[in-house]
Amino acid sequence: MRLHRLIRRWAVSYTEGGKYSPIGVWFHWIMAGLVLFQLGSGWMMSRYPVGGNKLATYELHSELGLSILFLALLRFGWRLFVPDPVSDADGPGWQKRAAHLTQISFYGLFALLPLSGWAMWSAIQPVQPLRLGGLVAIPPMPFHSLRSSWQFQVLDWAENVHVLGVIGLALLVPVHIIAALKHHFWDRDNTVRGILPEIRDDEAAPDHTQYTPRAD
Ligand code: HEM
Ligand code: HEM
Repeated sequence: MRLHRLIRRWAVSYTEGGKYSPIGVWFHWIMAGLVLFQLGSGWMMSRYPVGGNKLATYELHSELGLSILFLALLRFGWRLFVPDPVSDADGPGWQKRAAHLTQISFYGLFALLPLSGWAMWSAIQPVQPLRLGGLVAIPPMPFHSLRSSWQFQVLDWAENVHVLGVIGLALLVPVHIIAALKHHFWDRDNTVRGILPEIRDDEAAPDHTQYTPRAD
């Protein structure tokens, strides 16, 4: 059997039971961690005084930010390959629509924020080298050939788009987390369990309930 069929069958064995596959689970938590780091590092770096750590933090922020775009594209490809599970939250009605809208908005922001950041980075002269995840060189967008007044204009637009994206994300993340907590603690359904790493029952473990001490 071809490898991709085997991988798909393995992943579908999870999604058919209402769980994200381990690959989907790790995509979610790695991206969630990166997004939180980006919100924090972006907020801090804009407030650092010029010099010292400011440039290094800009670099880290930009390179990790671009990896969110890359991961979002991989995640999208994975989703086309293996459909997401149907959880208890996917019943008919507004909750399903709200969950889809949140998901689409997240992915829109995962594209908008890195693209506007990349545009900002490319409009600041002289353009500094940028590496995806610190490794793969990414060329600047072609703004260096524009007149400097246009470069300022691009920088200004990209900055506004970036800040709007930040506001959108900063609103969406708490709404998403509150919705997840509501499903878990209020509705007591399987939605959150579906995105948590699996904790296997160890079948080999001794069953202590069956243990009867020997009387000798
Ligand atoms: C999902 C990814 C990203 C998130 C969540 C994010 C978040 C942020 C935040 C919170 C700020 C501070 C805004 C403020 O308080 O004024 C910021 C600023 C900035 N970000 Fe990002 N960012 C992301 C991706 C990127 C990327 C990929 C780049 C560059 C390639 C980038 C470049 C910048 C720059 C240059 C600023 C400074 C803007 C200014 O000085 O006003 N960001 N970002
Ligand atoms: C910055 C933090 C977070 C971001 C950006 C985020 C983003 C996302 C995205 C894009 C999805 C859609 C599935 C996917 O593409 O992976 C999703 C699903 C989900 N997330 Fe998060 N998430 C974050 C934090 C959390 C936290 C802290 C929880 C739990 C308390 C959580 C619980 C869930 C659940 C339960 C689903 C599945 C929803 C369903 O099956 O309809 N997320 N999240």
